[in-house]
Amino acid sequence: MNIHAFVHSRIRTSMQAGLVVVLCCFLAVVASCGRNVTVKNINIIPEPVSIEQRAGVYTLGSDANISFRGVGQNSFPVKYLMNSLRQGHIQPSLATSSEKSDIELILNDTVDSRLGDEGYVLDISAAGIRLSANTEQGLFYAYQTLVQILPSDIIEDSYSSISLPMCTIVDYPRYAWRGAHLDVCRHFFSVKFIKKYLDLMANYKLNRFHWHLTDDHGWRLPSEKYPLLNEIGSWRVDRDDQPWGKANPPKPGEEATYGGFYTKQEIADIIKYAAARGIEVIPEVELPGHCSAILAAYPHLSCDGGPYDIPLGPYWPPRAILCAGNDSTLLFINDILDEVMELFPSQYIHIGGDEAFKDNWKACPKCRHRMKEKHIHDVEHLQGWLMRQAADHLRDKGRIPIGWDESVDCGGLGFPAVIMAWRGLQQGYNAARAGYQVIFCPTEYCYLDYYQANPRFEPAAIGGLITLAKAYAFDPAPLGTNHRVAECIIGGQCNLWTEYINTPEHAEYMLLPRMLATSECMWSATQNKSWNHFRKKIEYQKTRLASKGYNFCEGSFTPLFRTAVVDDNTVNLTIETEVPNTYIFYTLDSTTPTQNSSVYIGPFNIKRGSRIKILPVFKDVPRDTVYEYIIK
Ligand code: ACM
Ligand code: ZN
Repeated sequence: MNIHAFVHSRIRTSMQAGLVVVLCCFLAVVASCGRNVTVKNINIIPEPVSIEQRAGVYTLGSDANISFRGVGQNSFPVKYLMNSLRQGHIQPSLATSSEKSDIELILNDTVDSRLGDEGYVLDISAAGIRLSANTEQGLFYAYQTLVQILPSDIIEDSYSSISLPMCTIVDYPRYAWRGAHLDVCRHFFSVKFIKKYLDLMANYKLNRFHWHLTDDHGWRLPSEKYPLLNEIGSWRVDRDDQPWGKANPPKPGEEATYGGFYTKQEIADIIKYAAARGIEVIPEVELPGHCSAILAAYPHLSCDGGPYDIPLGPYWPPRAILCAGNDSTLLFINDILDEVMELFPSQYIHIGGDEAFKDNWKACPKCRHRMKEKHIHDVEHLQGWLMRQAADHLRDKGRIPIGWDESVDCGGLGFPAVIMAWRGLQQGYNAARAGYQVIFCPTEYCYLDYYQANPRFEPAAIGGLITLAKAYAFDPAPLGTNHRVAECIIGGQCNLWTEYINTPEHAEYMLLPRMLATSECMWSATQNKSWNHFRKKIEYQKTRLASKGYNFCEGSFTPLFRTAVVDDNTVNLTIETEVPNTYIFYTLDSTTPTQNSSVYIGPFNIKRGSRIKILPVFKDVPRDTVYEYIIK
């Protein structure tokens, strides 16, 4: 296979994380028939701790070579690099020990205390490109940064040489937990897509994949001890052609054909793929609520004996709950957690604990008996007791349980344990004060299933509105946060619930670009963040992501409208887009706006029922879409 065929087949077959792109660069360089390019600006997401850019460039030419110091052939950055090459039948040009190398990877033999476990230094000077770190993970992130310095069209174009700006980047993360969550229960996603998701995470230095594997709408873990979970609990009647909120009920005898579960081999494959990108996979098993799929398969684990169905659309309130008074439930939980621990080597296992409606417990003689036996006075604390049984089982095997923030209100998970704060920042602070380590993913900033732009111009979503600027405003510990609380915060993540998301393309659309905001909010110190700079960098990343085939939402340019009543017939209209340097041109006579139309300069009065047509123009370039709105 020749170099170009290799490069293009890589793009066609699957997106590969950064190192391949680096290699594509070398290969394109080797191709030597293309043009020369000089990179002028450095636009890295997440923003590094420090970038010192100097005058001058280092040019990678057709004789580019690589060397390694301190990292063995089996270390993960090197293996990653070598495997990528071998897959493409390419032998890298390795420098001999006496040769000067263009690119050098160095695992520090003396620890650089600034960098910790994930930091790195990337130095581009007259001597070449030098990547150094204390760990392999740090080296991997140095690569990811180097990839972002390369031209964004590197995998589409070929260059005979690439000149990179001389600079020194010193970088390390603000938080250890930089996560992204994916719900594969409401809609099922293939291994191929999950790998693409992991690639994306790795490109932006996210390191925890929270895999939401069980819920009312489907059970996605393989189980040998409870085979009906897969025969019954993993499948529902197919209503994928209907909107989530409007699914027709099942017909009598209709076969359940939508869904599936991951096999043991697929899970092992995903864990390995993630690990090769510095990502830990954290499985979630929902307890004790959100369990219709369990009860459809094993109704004896419920308070009332069932029967239970797997719901086809919205399921609220989610009344299905495992019976806390039934010893079979305790056995079931331990058995499932044992199976999970066999499959997943992660330090953390998530055991849910959110939105458990306990009406069934109140009415259940077995649950009431359990409360009496254990001197528990209300059903909330019965949930706490049940969750602690599961948490203790995990701790006994050396794992750390994670629970959603309701777990704190229920009497806690015991220690050590981590609380995931989703209902709001305050719930996270309460958990910290109760002594837990905390991961933040509040709905206000981190729920990427929410609308990201004016809902009237967007595909149906679950509700809410988290624009890119809003997602970027996420900070679990703003300056001035009590230091004892701040010390308990191990990080945060974005969550992608998939009720309204049933294709990989739509998932990408909801993730991008907001996932990049999560990345910068979790990696970069508050004082290194700047919305205007971040928004500029998004334009560069957009090109990069498009070249890798990702779907991307341009919602930052979509106008948002606010109206204030002036009188019965008139409102005062405010129009906003959140991108600096965007002008809004509009018409009120139904003609298509151009750059000769009226330009919006501030709120104005307008009659209800008027039709306004809007053209955003960014840096003198009209956007593709004209937005039409009838004033209410
Ligand atoms: C949640 O969104 N119910 C954790
Ligand atoms: Zn019960």
